[in-house]
Amino acid sequence: MIIQRFDDEDALASALATRVRECLLANPTLVLGLPTGRTPLAFYRELRERHADIPWSGVRAFNLDEFVGIDKTHPGAYHAYMCRELFDHVSIDPANIHIPNGRAEDLKAECRRYEAAIAAAGGIDLQILGIGTNGHIGFNEPADGLCAHTHIAELEQKSRESNAQLFGGDWQAVPERAISMGMATILGARSVVLVATGRKKADAVYGLVEGLITPQLPASFLQVHPRVTVMLDAQAAIRLKPDTTR
Ligand code: F6R
Repeated sequence: MIIQRFDDEDALASALATRVRECLLANPTLVLGLPTGRTPLAFYRELRERHADIPWSGVRAFNLDEFVGIDKTHPGAYHAYMCRELFDHVSIDPANIHIPNGRAEDLKAECRRYEAAIAAAGGIDLQILGIGTNGHIGFNEPADGLCAHTHIAELEQKSRESNAQLFGGDWQAVPERAISMGMATILGARSVVLVATGRKKADAVYGLVEGLITPQLPASFLQVHPRVTVMLDAQAAIRLKPDTTR
């Protein structure tokens, strides 16, 4: 695990955008796993600003998750978020945008379809992740056991609260369920970059880097992955020893 520290979230976002650009220059048909949430907003802003400089046309993008029960055009939907923050501003082929359909009639079939689509693309080359204050990645919430593949997740109140701003500030308006990539879907990516900013993430980051591997902190499973970079701002790194490199 490589730990990279940045003075602030803008420096981090710029470094991450540079990394994605380099990956795309090396492999224009890269399969890119993408998160939503507050953390990647600065990164998406960077990608928008540098769009002319980044070869988007061959990229295949797979989002980590989507809420169940709302239309993809609902302002709270992750699909709408991705269009607003990135896809509407870059030359990605719409056929290469993949986000689970939270309104599918048969949600289990949709999970299987999504997992099969990732496999058919050859698996994810670069997966970018945020982390929940509870240590979740995607919507793999702390539990006694975790799901391997794309599945329907029941969201913790904490997770719904942290998405409240997408639903007019009302956490109870946030759907109770989401479709999420599973742990094996995420750990199957050839490389992973986890991004965390702010003091609220410091405990989860400490568990991810220093703790035991436990389903009570799903991100801790990244310790078994051979190619993980953890990119942190000073506040998110505050509980790590200054010389921590793994
Ligand atoms: C979002 C996702 C979540 C978020 C995490 C952090 O697609 O999968 O795991 O990355 O909840 O969210 P923020 O960045 O809003 O703190």
